[in-house]
Amino acid sequence: MKITYFGHSCFGVEINGKHLLFDPFITPNELAKDIHCDSIKADYILISHGHEDHIADAVSIAKRTGAKVIACYEIHTWLQKQGIENTHPMNTGGKWIFDFGKVKCVSAQHSSSLPDGSYGGNPMGFVIESNSGNFYYAGDTALTYDMRLIGEYRKLDFAFLPIGDNFTMGVDNAIIACDFIQCRDIIGMHYDTFGYIKVDHDDARKKFERAGLKLNLMKIGESVEK
Ligand code: NI
Ligand code: MN
Repeated sequence: MKITYFGHSCFGVEINGKHLLFDPFITPNELAKDIHCDSIKADYILISHGHEDHIADAVSIAKRTGAKVIACYEIHTWLQKQGIENTHPMNTGGKWIFDFGKVKCVSAQHSSSLPDGSYGGNPMGFVIESNSGNFYYAGDTALTYDMRLIGEYRKLDFAFLPIGDNFTMGVDNAIIACDFIQCRDIIGMHYDTFGYIKVDHDDARKKFERAGLKLNLMKIGESVEK
């Protein structure tokens, strides 16, 4: 799998030749000025919840690429109203097999409304299983005991966890989440973009190291292979 960071909680993950894009928020992100939104590839766009900082570029990228958008039922309905026809509605607890692998929607403890104030349904995380490996994309969430279910459900190769605090769990709770999900290899997200979620990178990495975990804080535009 090839993972590319586009800033905030937006990642591209290439699996078996298919391009997945999570929570596109690029053009309004001051830190992602060097990312050309118009050149991002997508066969699938996965949206964890309706907040602006997770959906801002979803409509334009979906229109340009024709990517199938995977989101909860309420966001699917909203996207259809924006003229996006290629959508796949899901909801918490459900799974579906796509051509790249399996998506299971898991709970996230957060809120969800769309940029125009429409109801956004349940916020979600995703567990992705494929023959190239398994991972968890947490979306925006607090630390919850439900995360133990994810660790019991599948062996994860790595996970995307929010670490910015204030709106989601922070570094200390993310370290506890690693124990719950039984995963030691973490890519951080949802930090630095706004004043409320600035993170001391060295301090965060050291805390993870002390707990026997690895925290990768990717540079915007950087790619890694997993
Ligand atoms: Ni949010
Ligand atoms: Mn957010």
